[in-house]
Amino acid sequence: MGYPEYRPRRLRQNENFRKLICQKKLSIENFVMPFFVKEGKDIRLPISSMPGIFQLSLDNLIKEIKEIKDLGILAILLFGIPKRKDEFGSQAYAKDGIIQKTVSKIKEKFPDILVITDICLCEYTSYGHCGVVRKKAKFFEIDNDATLDLLAKIAISHVEKGADMVAPSAMMDGQVKAIRKALDRSGFINTPIMAYSAKFSSCFYGPFREAAESKPKFGDRKSYQMDIHNSEEALREIELDIQEGADIVMVKPALSYLDIIYKAKERFGIPLAAYNVSGEFSMVKASARFGWLDEEKTILEILTSIKRAGADIIISYHTKELAQWLKKGGEG
Ligand code: PBG
Repeated sequence: MGYPEYRPRRLRQNENFRKLICQKKLSIENFVMPFFVKEGKDIRLPISSMPGIFQLSLDNLIKEIKEIKDLGILAILLFGIPKRKDEFGSQAYAKDGIIQKTVSKIKEKFPDILVITDICLCEYTSYGHCGVVRKKAKFFEIDNDATLDLLAKIAISHVEKGADMVAPSAMMDGQVKAIRKALDRSGFINTPIMAYSAKFSSCFYGPFREAAESKPKFGDRKSYQMDIHNSEEALREIELDIQEGADIVMVKPALSYLDIIYKAKERFGIPLAAYNVSGEFSMVKASARFGWLDEEKTILEILTSIKRAGADIIISYHTKELAQWLKKGGEG
């Protein structure tokens, strides 16, 4: 029979009661804003499938960072679009590569903004895969271990320029361990790793691939990213990354994987990030444009659901607009 006298609505009747019992408010301090930085000057190229998001050259990115910093955003995640691509993605670890130059400049101008760099090869290889491809026949093969050396090299080259945290996203086995070892050997024992641990082979990355110019030229990413059907495997991936030394683990995408976020938080209790990816962003923007959904409320509800599921950190292209609403006194 339960409690016949219990009426949950009693505490919903006025705004202050609702505030008093509110459990999960969005705070801008838990958000990370991603940026796409491109070689060149005075570039601000709109990404057609991501309204409001641009490929920026470094000069324009610096202006943007000044703005988001004033809005209270603490952390950014950087993706680079290099001037040329090759078989080994060498611009990813070049001393004067786009990310290396960008990180130095940002750290010089804004020493206290947290700069996180994506560690992957897909934007830098001529064939657009996250690892080194060995055989380019119908059935191509990724050379996992050769890729590990390159990922470690990329990570060191970013941290040497001042990156505060590295985020390996290639989904190669052993990538966290390889990067941890390389960082420690180079004396960067205090630089944390945020691992893209459970990264699913998702269609929701479509708009990102336009933004980062990283669409694979052949095949797909199913041989290294996770099968969308599997949750136990996701937890095993997360556990492995923790054992390999990850400081923060990530589930990606977020919205279709709230179950994984919830289970990972319950099981491991480690700082957990969720990536509210490009396709999730574009869906909201498209329906808002048609007037089918209230944009602001939809975004707040989506981001709240990710937080309520258990994410401590949310990486989202909505971060800047969220900061603007919160600053205007909007409800989190
Ligand atoms: C790969 C990477 C991807 C994203 C972040 N890092 C794309 C992919 O695996 O194709 C996707 C993020 C998004 O969709 O917003 N380096």
